[in-house]
Amino acid sequence: MSQVMTAAPAWTIPEFLDARENNHLFIGGADATALVYKFGSPLFVFSESRIRANIARLQAAAKEVDRPISFCYASKANSNMAVLKVVRDAGIDVEVNSGGELYKALRVGFKPNQIIFNGTSKTNEELDEAVRAGIYSINVDSIYEIELVEDAVRRARSELNSGLPPARIALRLVPEIGTRSHLGLQTALLTSKFGISSSEVLDAFRRGLQNPELIHVCGIHIHVGSQTPDVEPFAEAFKSMWNHLMTIHRETGHTLEHINLGGGIPVNYLRDRSQADQLPEHERDMLGADLEPSAVLKEALRVARESARAAKAEHLLDRLTILLEPGRSIIADAGVVLTIVRNIKRRPETEDIWLLTDAGYNLLLSMNNYKWYYHLISASRACEPLESEYKVAGPLCDSGDVYFDIERHGRLPDYRLLPRDVKPGEVLALLNSGAYSLAQMFPYNGRPLPAAVMIREGGRADLIRRKDTYDDLVANDVW
Ligand SMILES: Cc1ncc(COP(=O)(O)O)c(C=O)c1O
Repeated sequence: MSQVMTAAPAWTIPEFLDARENNHLFIGGADATALVYKFGSPLFVFSESRIRANIARLQAAAKEVDRPISFCYASKANSNMAVLKVVRDAGIDVEVNSGGELYKALRVGFKPNQIIFNGTSKTNEELDEAVRAGIYSINVDSIYEIELVEDAVRRARSELNSGLPPARIALRLVPEIGTRSHLGLQTALLTSKFGISSSEVLDAFRRGLQNPELIHVCGIHIHVGSQTPDVEPFAEAFKSMWNHLMTIHRETGHTLEHINLGGGIPVNYLRDRSQADQLPEHERDMLGADLEPSAVLKEALRVARESARAAKAEHLLDRLTILLEPGRSIIADAGVVLTIVRNIKRRPETEDIWLLTDAGYNLLLSMNNYKWYYHLISASRACEPLESEYKVAGPLCDSGDVYFDIERHGRLPDYRLLPRDVKPGEVLALLNSGAYSLAQMFPYNGRPLPAAVMIREGGRADLIRRKDTYDDLVANDVW
């Protein structure tokens, strides 16, 4: 029997994630292995108190600056209805990216004036839904889209025969600001598909102000990307928006109500650094980022105040509301994927020991798309020394369904460290896996989508998503 480590493991998060006396992983006071026996594997486990703590951290950051901050949870990160309900009950607003997410937000009880809608390719139907609901802001992604919103208002007025107020829009900009995140997660580069470029901004605003009876231009928006490890891109984006705001005021007399700094506050995926040195340096810096949201807000406002002072435009800043769209920083570390080792093999030629789990990239798409690192531990031997190296893979039918970098670019460790003698039946836990996972999962290979539970105060586990049945797999097929 291996020895048990005495210090708390580095992945421990007090009052949420810890190893208890029987060496089991506990999530919000619930024994992870017991959850799997009760609800099946694989299983998503979320913690209500951790979601609330993450939101409270953002709210505390907002108190450190002198402008009102409104947080709009980026529901793309995880739009399970129970998650949305916890977010709504915690008192923040919501960002949606489709008619479906808008439907969910309204259905769970967000008020229309708590909702902002982003997206590059909104359909007329989606614009109709947003306009008719009267949401806080439709963030338009091009000059062309302004016309589409105007058309939606005209349609709504004639069909509803009502005095619907003008639709509120904000313009999404793409100012060519890079970050140290994955290229696929950077969204303010001119090579990205998003937004209106700086050279067109003034024209776009003039166009937006043309028909005030149809639309009201209320804000300006830049999302520099997800998992942004440094404060500078946020500050640069804020300054860029602030300068545009002043120019628009000077040139048109119009005063914008809000600046939306987007999402992207990073999560520290390398709280446990036992395999961090096996990642390339830039991945390590990006995945292990520890950026305080208050630092982002303070720096953004510092640069804006400086430029406002120089331009004698402080009165504009004093009227401004700032929006943030955090997704990952609210839900990533509040979620854990539990998975059972279903099969094992030792290759005589390489002496590799392979552990085959039931959680593949159909549940954690980022592991494949971006070679995202999710720290892996044993849920029943959470404190045992990490003495053995394993090749770990999921259940899907292609070779890319592995927990390492199949392309051999070294973006993930080749082997995962776990206690010795892992056997089929052992429950493993992938930590920090609550964002862009459940929201992106798909039933490839006819694998029913798994259940999810929410751990409440006191360790009670509520089912928040039932496991799909085989009937669910064929429910929408017509034959
Ligand atoms: C427009 C927009 N806002 C907010 C977010 C949320 O980002 P994050 O989850 O990194 O906070 C995203 C996701 O990339 C986004 O595209």
